[in-house]
Amino acid sequence: MTKRILLVGGAGYIGSHVALAIKEAGWQPVIMDDFSTSDRLASTQEDEFIEGSFLDLALLQSTLKKDISAVIHLADLKSVPRSMSYPQEYAQANICGTIQLLNQILAHNIKYFIFSSSATVYGNPQYLPLDEQHPTEPINFYGFSKLKIEELLGWYSELNKIKYTSLRYFNVVGYDKAMRCLGVEKNSSNIFPLLMETIFNIRHKFLVYGDNYNTKDGSCLRDYIHVSDIANAHVLALSHLMKPASQSFICNLGSGYSISVFEILAELKKIAKTNFKVEIVKARMGDPAHLCASYQKANNLFGWKPKNSDLPNIIRTSLNVYQKYYQSK
Ligand SMILES: NC(=O)c1ccc[n+]([C@@H]2O[C@H](COP(=O)([O-])OP(=O)(O)OC[C@H]3O[C@@H](n4cnc5c(N)ncnc54)[C@H](O)[C@@H]3O)[C@@H](O)[C@H]2O)c1
Repeated sequence: MTKRILLVGGAGYIGSHVALAIKEAGWQPVIMDDFSTSDRLASTQEDEFIEGSFLDLALLQSTLKKDISAVIHLADLKSVPRSMSYPQEYAQANICGTIQLLNQILAHNIKYFIFSSSATVYGNPQYLPLDEQHPTEPINFYGFSKLKIEELLGWYSELNKIKYTSLRYFNVVGYDKAMRCLGVEKNSSNIFPLLMETIFNIRHKFLVYGDNYNTKDGSCLRDYIHVSDIANAHVLALSHLMKPASQSFICNLGSGYSISVFEILAELKKIAKTNFKVEIVKARMGDPAHLCASYQKANNLFGWKPKNSDLPNIIRTSLNVYQKYYQSK
């Protein structure tokens, strides 16, 4: 029988790509989303949808009764700056909300759980590339909220209540090549949505936070991983987790190499054949100079490696989707 996989936050930027990969793997995605940071455009019509919040206990309970084999939780609030201004919102949604979700998953005897975690759990790097053994000392409340859930998952798994994987994404970028996911990120503080909004004249300039870092060109270096690679990783990780002999695990999902802000700007201007206003402003507090992942563990455990994460592909797929999105408005 086809496995039914519940995607909480499945209409979002990453969730809509994961839903696609789940379908391509021959499973049935069941999407629960309240559209608070996404719109229906992101998802195809034929998907099974439950519209509403997973924080709504009655709705969550009725959803989990629908013959669900595994749950993927992609619905955390994700703005680092906002988590520092309104930690109570993040505590409520990301920590309390996820605990309620997990307890209901246990109550409904669902065995498998995938958590969208983040590289922010590591905090300032003590060495690079970051592997999963690196100390976890988050420097913002968002990262703290992810770490608390990972700790809880560790306990629940040890007490044989659940098998889980926590996937620590680095900077997720790009879009499905065939443009099957058209939801653009709303109110994002991430670099690619901000760049796209500048190119398509929603913003009149792009701000570079700091050009005096101890890096090759003075701007920050980050690890950018294509969303289609992230989506495929969920399928591989879940297939691995479902093997009777496999254990719960935490692993990084990154490209394994880093790109500077100025390199992105140069490549984007070349590919888009356009110029736009760039202003250098003060570096933000708590922005490390350099982040880069080791994805060795994901490769060893379930054979994953990035296939779509080269910069030109990231830029082209983003430009195509944003163009289509703004044309449709
Ligand atoms: N985008 C990144 O670079 C990145 C990096 C690391 C981790 N993550 C994590 O990945 C997950 C998905 O991120 P994204 O970039 O797709 O974000 P997103 O905001 O595009 O998607 C989140 C989805 O969850 C939905 N949602 C929010 N609250 C909900 C609720 N209470 N009930 C039901 N649905 C709700 C939103 O409407 C949206 O569709 C998040 O947990 C985020 O913390 C993202």
